[in-house]
Amino acid sequence: MITSTKGKSPFYPGQPVPVELFVGRTEQLNRIITRGVGQVAEGKPITIYVQGEYGIGKSSVAKFVQWMADRNYNLHPIYASIGGVGSLEDLAAAVLEATVRSGAFDPKKWEKIGEFLAKYVGSIDLYGVSINFDALKKDASNFKTPFSMLSFLSETLNRLRKDTEINGVFLVLDEINGVASNPDFAFFVKSMVDTNAMSTEPLPLLLMLCGVENCRREMIHNHQPVERIFDVVDIEPMCKEEMEEFFLKAFKSVNISVTSKPLGIMSYYSAGFPKIMHLIGDSAFWLDQDGEITEGEAMNAVLSAADEVGKKYVDQQVFKALRSKDYHSILRKIAKTGLDMSFLRQDVTKGLTESERKKFDNFLQRMKKLKVLRSGDIKGEYVFNSRMVRLYIWLDALRKRPRR
Ligand SMILES: Nc1ncnc2c1ncn2[C@@H]1O[C@H](COP(=O)(O)OP(=O)(O)OP(=O)(O)O)[C@@H](O)[C@H]1O
Ligand SMILES: [Mg+2]
Repeated sequence: MITSTKGKSPFYPGQPVPVELFVGRTEQLNRIITRGVGQVAEGKPITIYVQGEYGIGKSSVAKFVQWMADRNYNLHPIYASIGGVGSLEDLAAAVLEATVRSGAFDPKKWEKIGEFLAKYVGSIDLYGVSINFDALKKDASNFKTPFSMLSFLSETLNRLRKDTEINGVFLVLDEINGVASNPDFAFFVKSMVDTNAMSTEPLPLLLMLCGVENCRREMIHNHQPVERIFDVVDIEPMCKEEMEEFFLKAFKSVNISVTSKPLGIMSYYSAGFPKIMHLIGDSAFWLDQDGEITEGEAMNAVLSAADEVGKKYVDQQVFKALRSKDYHSILRKIAKTGLDMSFLRQDVTKGLTESERKKFDNFLQRMKKLKVLRSGDIKGEYVFNSRMVRLYIWLDALRKRPRR
């Protein structure tokens, strides 16, 4: 019989991190709490844009700060992930659904929300609430104007406030990439914020949007005045201390110890990217045999995480895009120069054939477009954007896999 002796892995490569394993981001959290949460708890509506590249930790910050705001400031959290949403009607449906779900974690809140939104509830069981989507979709168009959405949220707050102290609503619209290019969305957000500010009794609403910088720019492009409503909070790559704290905390939670060398290896290759951190940590967790991560295990974990990143990203988006045989050969030659994150154009040129040399500039442009490389500070210097991609390309060249 096959039995599992390992407990639950404390690593979550594809999901926002659970509250108990969240690390760092002190500056951003402080800012959101003092300028956002605290103000809304006092009755002043605030709108925040949490911005950062893919996988950097935006959703995790949003979830964590919602949890804090609920506990310490009595803001009711509503979290809507709207990645697949393109229209205002779909947006209204997503907010409606998120509002129904927002009551499900607390029996006292559920009494009120469940009653208020009963027609959208299919059933409630051990796994939480199931939604009556037919009813929800039918009504969504009633909430797609800024005014009706505000009234709906106000009514939710009023219901919750009966006999409980709730100071406001904290609505997160996460993954706005789908809807950001729709001009209606920029107008909707701006108008919702203005309508609320101008009303005699504004709804204490913390509205938080999460997305890459480009989505915010798109919204501004569609409707310039949107620029003024956001307090922008940037999520940057993590520093070494944050990464090490994370590994220690995560491994400790499952009684695995790590000394400073393997810790250094894992954070070095994570290079500030929390997603990579979780991939490496997860590999190390499964490789571990005896409750202590060794240097060898850390390095193997890095290699297998690099393989995973490589298969998903480099194989699919880089190798496939580089059709010419010469391009692949140039990449292999760069790869084999070692594991440095940067190289000089002239150093690589020396080892190229005549026909590769002719294509080298085009190759570099392509790699910049694919976001594998960027220009360095010195003239003719090129820098890899990701350590894992660099590592994978190197591994791949060593294996000398023939490429078509
Ligand atoms: N502060 C943190 N502490 C620990 N792990 C984190 C932290 N922030 C993010 N992570 C982890 O990093 C990965 C990416 O985080 P998250 O999903 O929050 O990023 P994101 O910016 O929302 O990504 P996307 O662009 O895909 O929406 C996840 O595996 C998550 O668990
Ligand atoms: Mg996210």
